[in-house]
Formats: sequence, structure tokens, C-alpha cells
Amino acid sequence: MPTRDPEVERFVKELAAENRAFWVDRDVRLDPGAHREVLRSQIRYRMRQGVYNELRSAELIAAWIPYVKEREIRELLPRQLDDEQRHYQLLRKRLRDLAEDPDAYEPLPEWVALFDWLVACRSRSTLEKLAMFQFAGETQSCEGFETLIRLAEPLDPETAHLYRTQILPDEYRHAAIGRQALLLLADTPERQRQAREACREINERVFAAYRSHRTRADRGA
Ligand SMILES: [Fe+2]
Ligand SMILES: [Fe+2]
Repeated sequence: MPTRDPEVERFVKELAAENRAFWVDRDVRLDPGAHREVLRSQIRYRMRQGVYNELRSAELIAAWIPYVKEREIRELLPRQLDDEQRHYQLLRKRLRDLAEDPDAYEPLPEWVALFDWLVACRSRSTLEKLAMFQFAGETQSCEGFETLIRLAEPLDPETAHLYRTQILPDEYRHAAIGRQALLLLADTPERQRQAREACREINERVFAAYRSHRTRADRGA
């Protein structure tokens, strides 16, 4: 890795703060104030959709690897692929233990479209791709998992434990890959503009998916 440039570090910190600000009150997938039973079903819905999202994350990383030329970044991705595949299997198993068929769930079309779009972004620059998925997306995922774990703790401690010990630590590492990519690549004003625009793009799309997710969860579909 090159020596750290304080200006780039300042930019990455600033962009992380902008993303955090965007997400205040926008992760609508769970309602912390809901009645126990409603919350329990919202958590279950997150797990069902989560199985799909973990699988697609593994596929996404597989699709991107050939397009990531920067060796320092590329070499971090196979382990991430492996992690996402493991999360997929762990969540499927947990749903089966809860007497659900994890493969019977029809993923939400908005999530399908979001992952299809991300796969199609493979030919964009490494900076843009990793700003979107690892830096913005996975950082928000970590926040989302923290909330999920906190709310699941009293309702389904075993599921909370699974997320806390087997999934969340990996997701923090994935978010750190995004930060590393930005520190390495966002070293000109133009590249910083591209990274910021990529974050804006993905945040808007993920927010739209979260809203659809919640609408469908509320319908109990
Ligand atoms: Fe994951
Ligand atoms: Fe991840």
C-alpha cells in the first residue's frame, strides 16, 4: 500500500460522514417501536430476504473479481466471496431450524433489480464499484445488522447470536475493504467526485429497496 495521504484520508472520513447522515431514519426495514409480534415477523422477513441478499452478494463479488485490476484490492475479494456464501448457508440453516423452507421465499423484485444492476456495474471503475457496494452498502449493512441484533435479542436470542458472532464481524471487514479501496484510489478531485456520486447513486437505490421491502413485509407477503 502507498503511504497514506492525509488529504485522501480526510476525504474518506468526510464521505463516510455524509453516508451516515443520509441514513439517519432511512433504514425502514424494522420498526423499533412496533409490537413484539409485528417486530418478530419483521425480523423473520429480514432473514428470508437476507438469504437471497447473501447469495447475490457472493455472485456479485464473483462477477466483479475479473474486473478488479488493482491487485491490493482484488486479493481481498475471494475471502469476501467465501464469507457471503457462508452467510447464505448459515441463514438458510437458521430458517430451517425455525421450521421454514428458506428456498420457498420469492425475493422482492426491487432487490433482484438492485443486484442485477450492481452486477452490470462490473465494468465501471474499481473505485466506483467498491465505493458503492463495500464502502457505502456494507457500512449501512453493518448499521442495519446492529439494529437487527439489538431488536432480535429479547425475541429470538439464537438468531441474534448468529448475526452477532457469525455474520457481523465479516461484514465489518467487508466495509473496511471499501475504505481501503477509497484510500488507495480516491486520490484526485475528479476521482473523489466519482466516489461521492457512486455513493449517492447506491444510497438512493438501496433506500428505494428498503421502502419496498417494508411495504411488502407489512402486507405479510
Ligand atoms: Fe454477508
Ligand atoms: Fe458482506
